[in-house]
Amino acid sequence: VGTAGHPSAHLCAHLERIRAALHLGPVVDVACGRGRHTLALAEHAIPVLGIDRNAAHLTELMRSARARSLPVALLRADLEIGDELPLLPERCGAVLVFRYLHRPLLPGLVRALRPGGLLLYETFTMHQKEFGYGPVNPDFLLAAGELTEQFRALRVIESWEGVDTGSPPAAVARIAAIKP
Ligand SMILES: C[S@@+](CC[C@H](N)C(=O)[O-])C[C@H]1O[C@@H](n2cnc3c(N)ncnc32)[C@H](O)[C@@H]1O
Repeated sequence: VGTAGHPSAHLCAHLERIRAALHLGPVVDVACGRGRHTLALAEHAIPVLGIDRNAAHLTELMRSARARSLPVALLRADLEIGDELPLLPERCGAVLVFRYLHRPLLPGLVRALRPGGLLLYETFTMHQKEFGYGPVNPDFLLAAGELTEQFRALRVIESWEGVDTGSPPAAVARIAAIKP
């Protein structure tokens, strides 16, 4: 696991869907951080492009990937300049976002997917404020039902929000959805 931490159960539940999406195009871990999910997927022989603006996180992630000969590519970019991923539109097989929210980018995530591509999203809801850690700024917290509303153009496979009783517990919303 290393410093990147354990992958989310949401990612693990959709692992085979992510693998299947690879034939459409790259799997992109948006705001990948130290690579909790990038590394977990690469360990399952799923190549991943991780994007983040934090050079130190990316350096640490690349070091871990190289040490284990894992199929990881990284791109350093500020995702809050403009409203698109720094990729050609309609090329990605899967777009994954965990614990990152920049609302102006949400339509751009959908544009980045090829038709048939998979979106997996999981981040904190407003109730996270009750847990004493994580973001408190409402810009970084989802309102009730917001993920399904934001991604209403997609075909939803799974949508859930509540308290994930992991360690530590977290108030999160999750969606898995396919671009028609
Ligand atoms: C809470 S961490 C989540 C990391 C990873 N997705 C995970 O779930 O473990 C949020 C990440 O978003 C990245 N981030 C924040 N603002 C960003 C921006 N404007 N552009 C790119 N990455 C950004 C941070 O560098 C950090 O790695």
